[in-house]
Amino acid sequence: MDNRQKLIINGGRRLEGELSVHGAKNSALPLLSAAVLAHGETVLHNCPCLTDVDAACRILSKLGCRCQRSGSTVTVDAANVTGFEIPDTLMREMRSSIVFLGAVLGRTGHCRLSFPGGCELGARPIDLHLSALEQMGAEILEEHGYLDCTATGGLHGAKITLSFPSVGATENILLAAVTAKGYTEIHNAAREPEIVDLTEFLVKCGAKIRGAGESVIFIEGTPRLEPCEHSVIPDRIVAGTYLCAAAITHGEIILTHCDPAHMNGFIPVLESMGARVYTYGGGKIYLSCKKRLSAPPTVRTMPYPGFPTDIQAPFTALCSTAEGTSVFVETIFENRFRHVSELVRLGASVKTEGRVCVVQGVKTLSGAKVCAAELRGGAALIVAALAAEGTSEITGLEYIDRGYESPETALRSVGADIKRA
Ligand code: UD1
Repeated sequence: MDNRQKLIINGGRRLEGELSVHGAKNSALPLLSAAVLAHGETVLHNCPCLTDVDAACRILSKLGCRCQRSGSTVTVDAANVTGFEIPDTLMREMRSSIVFLGAVLGRTGHCRLSFPGGCELGARPIDLHLSALEQMGAEILEEHGYLDCTATGGLHGAKITLSFPSVGATENILLAAVTAKGYTEIHNAAREPEIVDLTEFLVKCGAKIRGAGESVIFIEGTPRLEPCEHSVIPDRIVAGTYLCAAAITHGEIILTHCDPAHMNGFIPVLESMGARVYTYGGGKIYLSCKKRLSAPPTVRTMPYPGFPTDIQAPFTALCSTAEGTSVFVETIFENRFRHVSELVRLGASVKTEGRVCVVQGVKTLSGAKVCAAELRGGAALIVAALAAEGTSEITGLEYIDRGYESPETALRSVGADIKRA
């Protein structure tokens, strides 16, 4: 993508209408990696058109899989997996490429990839992933910035206790364990809906897994998985971002193709601020916000089912025009307030200290030139710009495009004045 692209937003338009939510990036990536384990052609529906998903498809091609997209359906033929190396360029492009480690190791007994290193959210170590795989019999060599992982006699099951319910580590252990010899238990496992989605896919492929969505997951290894057809769950963070966008513009919106049950960590926060939110069967959410919102009680980001760290930035943007003082405590990542300096350019009154962010609500924001420094922080800038008086220009779209499928088309369809130039 051309990095000079920008979004131009004329703020102050109420969002009104119906908006469909695309499939979850954070589910699609581990599902694409899981396809490596299935001997044949996997079909994934509702797979979002995002640069991170493209990067995952390029990794699959490097591994020898055939990967094709038609609309929102991606087909992966993993009948022949000939490679075991993830090139440095692709690791750098997408840190979550690490989720290929467990699957490639399980399928080929070997995986070589460059160390993911730090990223825009902070250090993001992978010690939990590596120590779990070592407990399952992998030998891991770290040299010259590369990780060489081998399981010559194959992986074996183990009882693994995570010191933190890491989403990526839980996924990697699941992917490694489904074809390992014997039983694996994951204690203090992550409970995110994306973990449940991955498990449902693996079970369709013939894996034996119990307890997904709970803190202890039991896996009985099976020698071989067969491909299946599966639909990616809706993106709860994209849904939450669009709710924030509607709320900050005092709009009235219906989201379709979403799963309100996955959003219990933040819908109550919207309600506590004064938004009216109704959830319906059939994957619909209605939000209406007629008057100025008020600041919510202190918000702490937590592992699922708590308030998601990924929606913290759009909510700080929303709170920038709420009446009163909002306090956010970021407990998951140490460097997740990078959007704050840009919100200040838009007229917000926000201060951070360490892991705490204090937002003093102002009556109006004003359009400005701002730059996204990471994915969800970028989404927060869109939310704020939609409410700001005058014109805003947002650059750094390469971050936003990692997780939001053409946000300008989606928001324009509900009345926003937004275009990409
Ligand atoms: C996933 C999501 C990301 C989300 C995050 C937390 C994907 C592709 N990304 O990221 O959008 O923000 O969950 O909900 O699904 N940690 C360690 N050692 C490890 C692994 C993690 O110390 O080996 C720490 C991290 O530095 C971080 C915390 O644990 O502080 C949470 O990380 P984790 O749950 O692993 O997040 P990701 O899987 O990277």
